Amino acid sequence: MTQPSLLERRFRVLGRHSPLFYERPLHLVRGEGVWLFDADGKRYLDAYNNVPHVGHCHPHVVEALCRQAGTLNTHTRYIDETVVAYAERLLATFDPSLANIMFVCTGSEANELAIRMARECTGNMGIISTAFSYHGNTAAVYEISTLFNPPDKRGPNVEPIPVFDPYRDRNGRSDEELSDAYAADVKKAVDAFAARGVKPAGLLLCTAFSSEGLPTVPKGYLAKAAKIVRDAGGLLIADEVQGGFGRFGTHMWGHAALGAVPDIVTMGKPMGNGHPLAGVVARADLVEAFTSRTMYFNTFGGNPVSAAVGNAVLDVIEREQLLDNARTVGAYVTGRMTGLQNKHAIIGDVRGHGMFFAVEMVTDRKTKAPATAETKRIINAMRDRGVLISRIGIHDNILKIRPPMPFTQANADLLTATLDDVLAGL
Ligand SMILES: Cc1ncc(COP(=O)(O)O)c(C=O)c1O
Repeated sequence: MTQPSLLERRFRVLGRHSPLFYERPLHLVRGEGVWLFDADGKRYLDAYNNVPHVGHCHPHVVEALCRQAGTLNTHTRYIDETVVAYAERLLATFDPSLANIMFVCTGSEANELAIRMARECTGNMGIISTAFSYHGNTAAVYEISTLFNPPDKRGPNVEPIPVFDPYRDRNGRSDEELSDAYAADVKKAVDAFAARGVKPAGLLLCTAFSSEGLPTVPKGYLAKAAKIVRDAGGLLIADEVQGGFGRFGTHMWGHAALGAVPDIVTMGKPMGNGHPLAGVVARADLVEAFTSRTMYFNTFGGNPVSAAVGNAVLDVIEREQLLDNARTVGAYVTGRMTGLQNKHAIIGDVRGHGMFFAVEMVTDRKTKAPATAETKRIINAMRDRGVLISRIGIHDNILKIRPPMPFTQANADLLTATLDDVLAGL
């Protein structure tokens, strides 16, 4: 009798709908820097994963994890130097008004806590998010994660704003005009809430607008949007799960790159380089008001091992100058992608923000009709040629390229040469 494959065994225990990447799913066994290795020893360039922010299995992070795991692991109900020192160091990267942190384990938990805090502190219930957002998987967060949650399941406390898309709807408008127009959508959401007797507790936005397809945010938008929601009694919540920890190269935090100071910031994925570490950074008065009324405790969140890992991640970001790398290599990748755009008509738009890239595929540059089927073929063909990327956006027609931060110019050459090859053979 033949033995069932690992994939078949996976189906049996995890069910058939536990998501998998690619038509031919990958069985990975090892990672190192920007490289992943499958069970046959084949090497893949990882141009997709942002969780291993400082590179897969970075020795400094692994060493910090093992050392602390062999010394002490408790939780935040004891006084601990590692935890406090990490919190101090991390908070120093924010605007001074954002002076407190609460540790959790996942981005979903962080957003759940942020929503609870915003609702408790404002006394309002409404949350505004974009019409194609993903913020996590808890009941409250899923409700506002409009990417998966259809309109009829959202309830009265959720009001989506349209996904902005300057590639399609700039129509000759300046950033000033465009940011006014997009901010006016936030006002419309506030008014829609008011019409049914709901007041906004917060505007929750991913600072990379990642699920939305990495649109270029017009200058001034976030500050204008924040003013509208604050005037209506709500708070600005910046989800930095995708845009944080220097991904954009110019700033440590996406909201700083977008020119606004939020009331609450959530973070996760890159924070622990794969170790489950996430957090909520907020104005001290909000944390004080929230925690004085309700006890919040998270058994694993911010334990000493997690704090040691988080601290090691910050070490590597600094020592290896990963923000500088995101700027220089990021600009190089964007330049190479623009070169491919001149060669391949299917590339309608190239957007790069530091080490985060969106390459939008269209069947016709005039109508900008999305090349959805072709995009699917492209990412599978890239995988077969040993380069891992994915796709996003309302039409699933945007290549999502978001490698670990130590991505080099040579890695960029391999990425773009492989894409060139795949596009030539479409
Ligand atoms: C912007 C954003 N927020 C929150 C989350 C949820 O994070 P987690 O999967 O750690 O719960 C994600 C995950 O993809 C995300 O992309």
